[in-house]
Parts: sequence; structure tokens; C-alpha cells
Amino acid sequence: MTSEMTLREKILLCEGESFWHTKANDTAGIDSIMLCDGPHGLRKQAAAADMLGINESVPATCFPTAAATGCSWDEELLTEIGTALGEEARAEGVAVLLGPGVNIKRDPTCGRNFEYFSEDPYLAGKLAAAHIRGVESTGTASSLKHFAANSQEYKRFSSDSVMDERTLREIYLTGFEIAVKEGSPSTVMCAYNKLNGVHCSDNKMLLTDILRSEWGFDGLVMTDWGAMSDRIAAFKAGCDLNMPGGSDYMLRETMEAVERGELLESDIDRSVGRVIALAKKKQAPVPCDMEAHYALARKAAAESAVLLKNDGILPVSDKSGVVFFGKMAKEPRYQGAGSSHINPYRLISACDAAPDVKYAEDVSEARSAKICVVFAGLTDEYESEGFDRDNMKMPPEQVALIEAVAAENTNTVVVLSCGSAVECPWADKVRAILFVGLPGEAGGDAICDLLFGRANPCGKLAESWPLSYEDALTSGYYAHGKKDAHYREGVYVGYRYYMSAGVPVRWEFGYGLSFTSFEYSDLKVDGKTVSCTIKNTGSVAGKEIAELYIEPPRGDFYRPTRELRDFRKVYLEPGEAKIISFELSDRAFALWNDGWQIPGGEYGILIAASSEDVRLRGTIIRPGSTSAAPKTPDWYFALKGKPTHADFEALLGRKIPEKPLKKGEFTMENTVAEMRNHSLMMKIMYSAVEGTVAKGFGGKKDYSNPEFRMMMASAADASMSAMKINGAMKNYVLDGMLAIANGHPLRGIRLMLKK
Ligand code: BGC
Repeated sequence: MTSEMTLREKILLCEGESFWHTKANDTAGIDSIMLCDGPHGLRKQAAAADMLGINESVPATCFPTAAATGCSWDEELLTEIGTALGEEARAEGVAVLLGPGVNIKRDPTCGRNFEYFSEDPYLAGKLAAAHIRGVESTGTASSLKHFAANSQEYKRFSSDSVMDERTLREIYLTGFEIAVKEGSPSTVMCAYNKLNGVHCSDNKMLLTDILRSEWGFDGLVMTDWGAMSDRIAAFKAGCDLNMPGGSDYMLRETMEAVERGELLESDIDRSVGRVIALAKKKQAPVPCDMEAHYALARKAAAESAVLLKNDGILPVSDKSGVVFFGKMAKEPRYQGAGSSHINPYRLISACDAAPDVKYAEDVSEARSAKICVVFAGLTDEYESEGFDRDNMKMPPEQVALIEAVAAENTNTVVVLSCGSAVECPWADKVRAILFVGLPGEAGGDAICDLLFGRANPCGKLAESWPLSYEDALTSGYYAHGKKDAHYREGVYVGYRYYMSAGVPVRWEFGYGLSFTSFEYSDLKVDGKTVSCTIKNTGSVAGKEIAELYIEPPRGDFYRPTRELRDFRKVYLEPGEAKIISFELSDRAFALWNDGWQIPGGEYGILIAASSEDVRLRGTIIRPGSTSAAPKTPDWYFALKGKPTHADFEALLGRKIPEKPLKKGEFTMENTVAEMRNHSLMMKIMYSAVEGTVAKGFGGKKDYSNPEFRMMMASAADASMSAMKINGAMKNYVLDGMLAIANGHPLRGIRLMLKK
């Protein structure tokens, strides 16, 4: 097939046709296919396209975001959701659904945490694989994203994620590995950022050596929207499709590289083959049952909610005298802002779901109520794709409302809606707290099911909730004004740090209450098979999540004291007991030391109700074999204070070069926002961009509006080459501007005139 196509035709086939479409090709016999976001609902923009979820899309079921479904620890549920998402995409003629995102919640303030499952790669990978299996079962292709090490929004288009290989393998790649091996997605989306200095789009180690050769991925790699760095390097690296399309990005340079013999035509043919294969997968549309999907969204929200505190006030058996407080009871916060933002098919608030419950505008109503339920959390301005949160605080007015109601009435319950952990200094003042994440369109129904006992909470936290942001190891050096991401903490992410360093948290990873109670007994460890019995000792049916952690022996290698290696979610009627079992693979004991290696010794095998609540403990002796442990700075063993830059350089075994911005050395990799303090031309450009973006917001430069902030970050913080791809400006204009910014005005003008 490719032999009948011209080189130009082939290169262009590896770039989309438009924002959401690939190209049709008669020679190859393929139609154009449509690719749409996203991870918790279909965002098919039939009219104006954008990557930030601003323009309206067709109505679709809004499932709970990953911040919620991560807490379900329920692979079957994720497959059901994936199936429903795939069906909706197929019904709308969409061939590829862009999701799920399996990036690690490295820091609680990452603006996009709501779209990711967990701080733990095993849990994230298992849930992503289950989601993918569902989507793919419908004939819709999924796209696992954002590959890899993309855990901050600040300077997301250009930042460099710097880390040691062990951290990369154990924490940042493991989730992708599980999702690829057990989910078999048709496509993988490479991230915007660099990894140790190399753009993900150009990264052969990531896209070919690891993804394809080691993990056996045989699908297509596409770029995130505007993530292509160097088309020539990207072809060599195994990056197939450049999205969005329509800019002929580096067409001439790529053709010349082939003519010079610098790029093999066979590298392009390989990518062309994958684009053709993907287009041929598209199935004819089949209508789907939106009512059934609403019911699934409701079940998913209920099964994902985490009961963080309950002194017995919940469930409420008699609704009379219950009063709802807080705007979110009426106008729920149910999904995050950005590319995953969809147009919900049917949105139900808690007030809609319980019309017989009184809603109070004024807290003065609190005193006379029997039970006050306050709906609070993070508002849209706090949490979005495109920027990170400044800290972990809730909006002051939300905290004030909780405190005011609790001061008036001791029977206060809080329903928390947010896509990531928040500080809860008010927690002791209320009787119950129900965390629902961003629960999707049916959140209101699900919340009432839980409050009034029609459902029993069975979610557990997929991320640690520190007492305050200062307790998070990364606070102080994570994002917030720092362009490059230095992963100083290494493998000590989330509970791996809190547990190992003995830092108390408000609610630990894996924690969640139920309206019933469970008893764990009869641990058996037989070779690599571990089993135990779980019994429902309460009076209502419920589901328990049993978590298996390993506790490695102390030795030459630094290691977190506990690491999740498996889990089971089991449904039990009152009084019922079930035996659950686990098979431990070699990998469960391994660490990365230039290959997966097992340090020998006695490993604790813990069956736990949370990362801190160990119910059963056994041991396994593992013969091991490892090459010598590398020399590692003390911090990684002692975990005293925070790791310094020097600790990090010693861990990496190299210096991290300083890269100060210098006029004269700007490249297409630099952004307008970066260059504006060094160049008048870029300062003017920045103001022009601001003005243009503001036009879409009634002329207001409103940085408190998350959509405005996101648009500004996308426009002014994208590299000049991404601006070329996005077609924001003509290539020759950008070339000219760069020359002027570098102090060569005449050359710049010549370039602009030359076209
Ligand atoms: C996001 C992706 C998304 C793409 C298309 C990007 O900005 O990072 O997750 O799929 O836009 O909307």
C-alpha cells in the first residue's frame, strides 16, 4: 500500500486533517476518522473545536472523574464505564476516545489530579487497564495518556521531568505498563513535557524501546495536541500521528531529511501503516441506551464515594428535619475544567434528588434543623487542566459555611466535592464527612442514596490526604514557578513517603469507612499464594476492599516500608464470609536496579483495610539476586527533612545543568511567556495574545476565571513550535518573530517577507 503513495502523501497522512480528524486516503482505502476526548465522557464538538473544553459538545453521559472512580478500587466497574463510554463514542461515529489518563498524583496541588486515578501506580494501572478493556470491547479505540511523567500543569508544554531511572520505572511507568499489557489500548498519547531532556514525542527510549519492545504494544502513538517537537526525531522514535492536524508541520524538513538519508523512509512507512490500521478499525455507528448509562453513572458515583468520618449519624433514616446547605447542593461541582469537560446528558443535584429535603440559603436555619448537610468543596476556579492549585486550601467561604453551620448545630454532616485532597482543619467539628470526588452527572442521586442508606459507602482513598500542604514532601519544590520538574523525592510518592517517614496524615491512602464492619481472619501464605477470610460482622450488606502490601527487608537498597501489590473488593451480606486469594508474581518483590531485581530476605505480607490499618500479617522468604546497590545519598534512607538539590544530583549521578534564558539563544522550544521579559517584541506579543484571549471573555483579562487562565497558559506558554502545529500563526511569521526576539530585527523582517 505505502509503495503506491508519494513521500509527501505519506508524511502528511501522519498528521491529522483538522483539530479532531485524521486524513482520508484513497490509495490506502481509508476514511477520515474522528478522535474525541475524553476519560469520563464523550466530548464530541460537532461545531467549533478547542482542546480546553470551552465550546459546547454533544450531550453525553458524564461519569464520575478518575478522582472518584480511583476510589472505587473496582475493576469491573471501570470496565462497565469504559464500555458505556465506548458505546457512546461509537453511536456518535467517533473512532478514538482520548483516555484514560494514568499519570501519577505526585503532588496534591496538580491541577489535573481530578483526571488521574491514584498516587499508586499499581492501582492506577489496574483501573486504567479495566477502563481500556471496556472501551475497546465496543469497537472504539482508546488512547492511554499522557505518556509519560506528566504530573504538573505549570509550564506543561515545555517543562522537563527530571528523574532517576528507578523512580521512572517503579512509579511513573508501572501504571502505563500494566495498562498496556493488561488493557491493550489501540493507541497511546505521548505527553507534552520532556523526560530527562528529551521531548516525549521524540523519545525513542519511551516510545519504542520500552513501550513496544519491552511491553509489546503494537498500536499507534499519537501526540498530545501540539506536543510534537521534532517531526524527524519523532518518526525515528516511533511517534506516528501528529495532532491536531492541518499545519503541514515540518513537511519540507522531513522530506529533505529522507532525501539526505538522515531519516529512513521505512520509519515513515511504519507509522503510515499504523495510521491506516487504526482508521480501518472504525466500526459503523450503533445507537446506545443513555438511560442505562445514567443508571451506571449513579451506581459508579455511589460505589466511588469515600466515607471519611461517621460517628453513627449516617445513614439518615428519617429525612424530616434534614436541611441542605451550600450552593453545591443545587449547583453541583461534578466534573473538572479542561479537555475532559463535557456537556452532561442529565445533571441531577442533591436538591433535585431529594426535593422533599429543605434547602437553606441562610445558615440561620441551622439551629432548628435536626441534621444539617453542608455541600462544600473546591469551586471551578480552584481546579482545572492548565494550571496547578496554589495550595491545598478550600475556598475561605466554603470553610466559613461549614464552621458556621457546625457552630449552630452539632449534628452536621459535610459532603465534599473536589478532585483532589484538600486541607480539612474543620474535620473535628462535624459528625460525618462523605467525599464524593467529582461525581459526574448523577452525583446528586448517588449522594442521596448514600446519605439516606439506600447504598452503603464502599470506596477507599486512592491518594493520601495530608494534614496540611506543608506535610507533602514535594511542597516547596513542586511546580509553582519552577519550570522544570525535579523529582527529588524519587520513589517516595504519597503513602510511600508518609508511611516510611512516619509523617501523620489526616486520612491515609486506602482508607474508607462503611455502614457495616468487616473482620479479617485465616491468613494463609502458601508459596506465592496468599489467602484469607473476610466476614461482614455488621447488620447491612456491604463491600470491603482488602489491600495487600509487601514490607521489604531492610538491606542495601532504600525502599518504602510498604507498597501496595494487590487488592480485592468483595461483596458480603450481613454475617457472610468469603475466602479471597492473591497470587504474587516475582515483580511484587522486585525493585529496579538496571533491570527488575529481587533483593533476598524476609518480606512481610500484609492484608490491610488501609495503608495504616493492617489486619493480618504473614511472611515470605525470598531468595534474591541483585547486582550491587548504587551509592545513594543518606536522605533516601533516613528521610529526614526534605531532599536537597544536592541529594537529588547525587541520586541522579549527574549535575543538572542550569539553563538560564538568554536573548540570542531562544529557539522554537521557547514560549512567548518566557521570552517576554527579555524581548520587547515578545512583550508586545504577550499583550496581543492577552487581548485576543480576553475578546472571548467580554474583553476582560480575568485571571480568576479558570477558562481564561487555561487559555492564556495554552496560548502564551506553548512553545513556538506548538504554535506552528496549532496553526496559531503562519510559520514564516513565527520564524521572523523568533529572529527579532533573538536580537536580529532585519533577519526577522526578511524571514517574514520571504514567506
Ligand atoms: C490534553 C489532552 C487532550 C487533548 C485534546 C490536551 O490539551 O492534554 O488530554 O486529549 O488536549 O483535547
